Amino acid sequence: MPSDIHPHATLPRHFKEVLLGQKGCVLWFCGLSGSGKSTIASALEQVLHDKGRFCIRLDGDNLRTGLNGNLGFTDDDRLENVRRTAELAKILAANGVIVLCSLISPRGAFRDLARGILDEDFTEIYVKADYATCEARDPKGLYAKAKDGKVKHFTGRDSSFEEPQEPDLVLDTEKLSVEDAAFEVLEYLRGKGIAL
Ligand code: ADX
Repeated sequence: MPSDIHPHATLPRHFKEVLLGQKGCVLWFCGLSGSGKSTIASALEQVLHDKGRFCIRLDGDNLRTGLNGNLGFTDDDRLENVRRTAELAKILAANGVIVLCSLISPRGAFRDLARGILDEDFTEIYVKADYATCEARDPKGLYAKAKDGKVKHFTGRDSSFEEPQEPDLVLDTEKLSVEDAAFEVLEYLRGKGIAL
């Protein structure tokens, strides 16, 4: 930390968690574009909300319209994208929020950075679907564009995706429905005593 910076103490995390009746945590969904990260996070947000849980979603596409709007898709920019998002998630989790992050976060090193920032709050969820599957889904038409060479640094094509080695949870969306995937996350959280 720079020597002339003097952070102020904030109200302890516990106060916020008691107020909200939940534990803060960060669920970090990673995977290819079109794998289902945002769809599952959105379904989960609804389920948790209906159960009276306070969630905030941090979605790569959304953040890139604002906070991360000056970033592109080089490795340096993606790393910064992940760093900023993880730092924001850290503040929210420290205030009792259940944070659902959906970012491709394609490299192990990027996810390690997020894990380092978030420490015990970090849960890595790999939303698994291979390139061909995501290409067939192509909800945003990006795979077709990438095939025509119209998207630079496209993940899985000219920019690699490193599969997580030891994720906390894998959601195979080639097999699971959105509802079942969201249910699996809930079960995982219950098992950990989070968001009961
Ligand atoms: S990350 O790699 O930095 O984590 P992030 O999740 O924020 O990526 O953004 C990914 C989204 O940006 C995709 O879902 C897609 O809609 C859009 N996008 C635009 N260009 C690219 C690209 N070159 N590679 C991947 N996604 C892209």
